[in-house]
Amino acid sequence: MREIAVFGGSSHPALTAEICAHLAVPQRPVLLKRFANDCLEVQLQSNCRERDVFIIQSLVRPVQEHLIELLLMADAARGASAARVNAVIPHYAYARSDKKDAPRISIGGRLVADLLVTAGVDRVLTLNLHSPQVHGFFSVPVDHLHALRELAGHFRQRDLSNAVVVSPDLGYAKSAAAFARRLGLPVAAGAKERFSDSEVRIAAIIGDVAGHDVIILDDEISRGTTVFELLDRLREQGARSVAVACTHGLFADNALDKLAASDVTEIVCTNTAPLEAEHPKLTVLSVAPALAEAISRIHIGESVSALFD
Ligand code: R5P
Repeated sequence: MREIAVFGGSSHPALTAEICAHLAVPQRPVLLKRFANDCLEVQLQSNCRERDVFIIQSLVRPVQEHLIELLLMADAARGASAARVNAVIPHYAYARSDKKDAPRISIGGRLVADLLVTAGVDRVLTLNLHSPQVHGFFSVPVDHLHALRELAGHFRQRDLSNAVVVSPDLGYAKSAAAFARRLGLPVAAGAKERFSDSEVRIAAIIGDVAGHDVIILDDEISRGTTVFELLDRLREQGARSVAVACTHGLFADNALDKLAASDVTEIVCTNTAPLEAEHPKLTVLSVAPALAEAISRIHIGESVSALFD
């Protein structure tokens, strides 16, 4: 069996450390240098030759810096004769750029997938891509995990006798339905239109929410625009209480404080992105055990499908 070598980029050191602890392997050191002309250089400070190399880097703010760092690390591993270069990307931010829905716009999800492969990435492990078709943007194997198991485990501790799961849009309704199935709950979905990064409209909710305890489920909360719009509709339709859950808690523009100041009962996300702020209403679930298990299975050539059960 080839040796495993795990390196972490600078985006989320706490998650890398947690994954390494679960794997019971050391985190290999990386030297990142910035030159006077602002260019970066990466040196992997541990032997990669014929190793199964895993590079953990979440594409979170500053996304471009972290992306270049990941590309440089993959290039360095390939150049150092790694047997295989695996990119572990807990949050693949460019997944939101997945279609040409306006003239002359870029499709970053596809371009970045190509860049990773060009840099030397042989395989990708990621979590909850914004849309499932982004998986197909990669020309190398992708293990695409979700966090429904972790999120459902959290909500199982709550009284769910009157609960309903609500997806803000029809695009995420399939995942919301899978989540609801795990909890034995009904599901509803918003009819959402997005006009810009900060403007969405949810015209209606398909399904019954009146008098129910709602669990909103989304892939990510960025500015919170979507959740705030959905909260308005849920109040209008007489929901009894609302909890909010997502995989990627990005909380841009102070979204966490704004959301916590609202009447939501709780906010639950995972640690795919580092969180600077804390709040008594916020629970952060760790995806490190799932990622470590997936890494271990990939390394020894076992199926990762058990992680979906
Ligand atoms: C859809 O567009 C996504 O599923 C999320 O609803 C969106 O990314 C959340 O962004 P924001 O919180 O800024 O509305």
